[in-house]
Order: sequence, then C-alpha cells, then structure tokens
Amino acid sequence: MDSLQKFLFSSLLLLAAAVNETRADALVTGTVFCDQCKEGQRSVFDYPLNGVKVVVACTDNNGQVSMWKGETTNWLGNYAMRFDGSPDLSGCYAQVSVSGEESTGCAAVAGPAQGLRLLFKMFYMEIYAVDSLLSQPAQPMASCPGSIPEPVTPPNPPTIRFPPIRPLPPVPFWEGSVCPYENWTMPEYICHWKVVGPDTKVAVAFGLIAARRYGTDMSLKEGLQGRGDLYMTLLREGTAALLNSYNSLQFVYPTLVVIERMNWALLGSPQQALLTALLFSRANSGFGNVRCNLTPCK
Ligand SMILES: *[C@@H]1O[C@H](CO)[C@@H](O)[C@H](O)[C@H]1NC(C)=O
Repeated sequence: MDSLQKFLFSSLLLLAAAVNETRADALVTGTVFCDQCKEGQRSVFDYPLNGVKVVVACTDNNGQVSMWKGETTNWLGNYAMRFDGSPDLSGCYAQVSVSGEESTGCAAVAGPAQGLRLLFKMFYMEIYAVDSLLSQPAQPMASCPGSIPEPVTPPNPPTIRFPPIRPLPPVPFWEGSVCPYENWTMPEYICHWKVVGPDTKVAVAFGLIAARRYGTDMSLKEGLQGRGDLYMTLLREGTAALLNSYNSLQFVYPTLVVIERMNWALLGSPQQALLTALLFSRANSGFGNVRCNLTPCK
C-alpha cells in the first residue's frame, strides 16, 4: 500500500468508529468563494464567502428536477447538506443561487454549476465533494490586479485570531511544487520552509482553536510526524498544506483557506475533521498533476 492508501484506510477505520448510527446518509460539502475580480476561476484574490445560498439539484432522465436542497454558507464559506437514504447523487450539481433582491456585494452573479464527486462510500455513508463554487460582484472590486491587493479578512470572524502573516517575498514562486508531508520532514528541504519554521508552534501558525486542541508547546515539526489519531493526522496534513500554500501559488488552497479549513475541522464533528484531513491529503499529493520538486538546500 502506498502512503495515501494507508492513510485512507486508517481514516476509514476512524470514520467507522465515529459513525455509530446505521442510518444511510449522503453528505455533500464544499466552499463558496467570492471571485471579487471576476476572473471566472479561483485566484489568490478570492476569499470564502459567508451567507450565500447554495442549491444542490438533481434531474431525472427527462431533465426534470427530481430533488433539490438549499443551504447557506457559514462564515468560513462552507456548506454541508445531508441527504437521507444514500441516494445516488453522482448526476446532481451544485450552484450558487442569487436572488434579484439581495444582489449586493459579492452575491450578484453566480458562477457556473459544479458536479458532485463521490469521495468515498462506506459504512452507510457517502461523502461527496464539490469543487469550489464562485460568486461574483456586479463589478470587479477596487482591490483587483492593477491596484495593490489589500489583505482580505473573512467577514465577522468570531473569537479566532489569525496568526500574523509576514509579507511574502516579492517574486512569485511559480515553479509549481506540491509535496506530501514526508518530504517536508526531510532536513535537506529546510530552506523551502517559508514564513514559518520547523520550530514555529502549531498554536502560532494555526491560532487559538488549534492551541486548545494541540496545546501551546507542539511545534510544526512535531505536527508533521502526527499519526495514529484522527486529530494528529489532521494536523500532519494541515501542516503540510500550510507549507505547500506558503511555498507555491499553484497550491489549490491559499494560506488563509488552509487555516480556516483547519479551524472548521477542529470546531466540528469527527467527520468534519476526517473530511478535512482527506481533502488536505489529496491536495498535498498534487492530485497527481503537480509533482514535489524541491531542490535540496546547500
Ligand atoms: C518525497 O518523498 C517520497 C517518499 O519518501 C520519495 O520517494 C520522493 O523521492 C521524495 N521526493 C523528493 C523530491 O524528495
């Protein structure tokens, strides 16, 4: 078994322990981003959008809508919808729903619908993921390319304090490298740690909620060794995702999203933590498209 398979297998065992009801369920989850520069795709200027309505709709063979459900995103831009009875949702799609009246801010124009991808199916439970949905303002916002982008903070963050993020180096790192956690533990790549270092505390890198779970002593280096326990696995994959986000603009999650997803996972159910660990793990593998090509440090 390769390491991803091993990870999936141990994760599923943990899920089996966490799901103690035998009712069949399907869970659909994803994130909505404000495409504030109206680029039509995810970019570094986008941020998770709170309070926007998402609809999942399914059509029958005649193209008629046979089932649908709506949910509003939370302040991390996430939504989750539960469908009883494990229906097959592979033909369904998710889309941002904008109503004419509230077409203010970033909820004026809905981006394209996305299909549902079955992440896994086991123990009476199916989990579907949806690629990022976009919502756009009527006009590109002032902070788009051309002017200097302002740092974006999500609306109304509650008591979570984000760690100070030092300004990134002026030259973008386009080389495109995404590495699984194993590679980040190797001493020869130490010079590729940006913004944070191996001895940076988990609590400093991820914030207050992580401090509550992992204590204030644990370092990122120790976090990368995590295994055996669902929350240690989450920390390992989250730490690798954080390093990938700092190291490469091509990484699927910007740094702020890694931190927010981590908080969302730590505040929620074990299923939420598992799902987040899985998403991080898939992202850290480069989805088979982006390789890990760090050059050894001198
Ligand atoms: C990353 O780690 C894997 C597993 O240890 C190894 O096979 C691979 O060569 C490493 N890649 C780099 C660029 O070091």
